[in-house]
Formats: sequence, structure tokens, C-alpha cells
Amino acid sequence: MNIQYLLDDLVADIKATPPEGNVADYIPGLETVDPDQFGIAVAMNSGETYSAGNSSTEFSIQSISKVFTLALTIAKDEDDLWTRVSREPSGTPFNSLVQLEHEHGIPRNPFINSGALVVTDRLLTLTGDSHACLQTFLREQSSNPSIEVNEAIAASESLTGHRNASLAYFLTSYQNLVNPVPEVLNAYFRQCAIAMSCEDLARGGSFLSRGGIGANGRVLTADQVRRLNAVMLTCGTYDAAGDFAYRVGLPCKSGVGGGILAVAPGTCTIAVWGPRLGKSGNSAAGVTALAKLTERTGWSVF
Ligand code: DON
Repeated sequence: MNIQYLLDDLVADIKATPPEGNVADYIPGLETVDPDQFGIAVAMNSGETYSAGNSSTEFSIQSISKVFTLALTIAKDEDDLWTRVSREPSGTPFNSLVQLEHEHGIPRNPFINSGALVVTDRLLTLTGDSHACLQTFLREQSSNPSIEVNEAIAASESLTGHRNASLAYFLTSYQNLVNPVPEVLNAYFRQCAIAMSCEDLARGGSFLSRGGIGANGRVLTADQVRRLNAVMLTCGTYDAAGDFAYRVGLPCKSGVGGGILAVAPGTCTIAVWGPRLGKSGNSAAGVTALAKLTERTGWSVF
């Protein structure tokens, strides 16, 4: 199979298709991106990286950061975390407040915002600085020492993140956040505001398709990675997780910056980026490209 040819062809297809969806604008700064860019990168387990389109352009990773903070947390302490967060698909928008009260302050999963705040809180306790721990990890895994936070996006999330603040205080009222809310929020916003390209992300997530082996050795055990991929498949794309499993058939994690990280266990890690989002907050072009890619390669877990 000629993977480079396939990626070039997918990019040409996306460019020729009328654009769908809109760029997220609830975080000021995200909407200034040229909406019709599209990039894809595939990091093979054998070591090669293939890429096409705007694959080296940096974008805001947003909720894709949640996969990495979860990985770093379960590497240090898996058991405690699962008493504070469930592992069920939410079926509600990623920033919903309703379900949290219903379920007595235990978030449905670590990938909705409330769950990610609990993960960040735990990582803060375990490391003292969850954002620095994440940034160091991403630089090492992507072999890119210049990965940084986009400070303007971090500041704008801080100014406008009223829902996240509500979720954080709500979690505290159930004793499910132990660190001060402003500290947890600051770490969470900085994690979301990290800027990476498709090439960085595909390489950075390679441990997920390589049974836990990252750029400098083991990140997670094979069992931990299998479980993390299961949570991505069932919860990584919010209320669209069923449709993703049906159309793409791979564990995926999306972000409102328009990126999606997908894992073909044993084969490769894929990153796509297209800033226009469909109604569930996932990149519209990204889903289309991933569905075509898995159809043409057979890279599906099913
Ligand atoms: O907290 C937020 O709302 C954003 N920083 C992240 C949301 C996000 O990426 C959801 N993904 N689809």
C-alpha cells in the first residue's frame, strides 16, 4: 500500500468537497484560524511518518490534551482515579452541567470537561505541576522541543471559561476536586492551549498504537494502553462516539481546535486537522478523512 499516495489523495478529496461546519468561536482566538486548512499525518509503528496538506501547521490541541493527561495520571496511579471518574459514554455535550448533579459529582468519563478537571486535579497532586509534566512529555514523545502553550488562547480561555469554572466549583462541592479551583483551572486551560501540528501529534501519540512504548521507552503497560484505547473509542468523541465507531472504527480523541487523534493499535497513530466543526464539536473534514482512510486501508479495530 502506498500510504503517501493515499494521504495526498485524501487531501485532494477534502479540498474538492464543499466545506461543512464552523470554526469554534466560544474561545476567542480559535475563530481567527483560516477555516479551510486541512492536514493529516500518520506515524507508523515501524518508524516512518507520512503526511500531507497542512500537516506541519500548529493548532490548538484543546481536548486532545485529555488523552495525554489521562495517560500520565494512570501511569502514576490508576486505581485512585477510577473511584473519582466513571468510564461510560456521556451522550451529552462535553461541557454539560446537568449530568454531574444527577451523578453526585462523579463525571461520566475522563474526556468530558468535568472528568478532565478531575484528572488534572489528580495529576496536580501527583506531580505538583500537571501542565509542565504534560508539556515535557509531549516534547519528548514528539521529538519537538519547541512545543509551547499559545498564551493568547490560554488567557482567553481563562477569561471566558465560566462553564469550566462552574464545573470545577461544583466538583469541589462534592469533594471531587482537592486542589484550589483557580489552580486546577489554570492548569487545565494551559493544557488545552498547547499548540502542536499533525506531525507532532501523530508521533506524540505513538505509544498508544505501540502497546505503551513511547519515544524513550515504556510509558504505559500494554494492559493500560488497551484500557485507555477502549475509553477513547467509547468516550473520546462525546455524543458522536457511536457514529465514530461506525464510520471510523478506531479509538479517537477530538478537540475543538479541529484536531483528531486516532489510534490503529499495532499499526499506526493518525492525526488529522480541519478547523470547521460538526454539531458535536468534532472536525467535520477530519471525520470524513478518517472514515475514508480506514475504509481504504482496513485499519479498523472491528
Ligand atoms: O474546555 C473547553 O471547553 C475547551 N478548552 C476544550 C473543549 C474541547 O476541545 C472539546 N472537544 N471537542
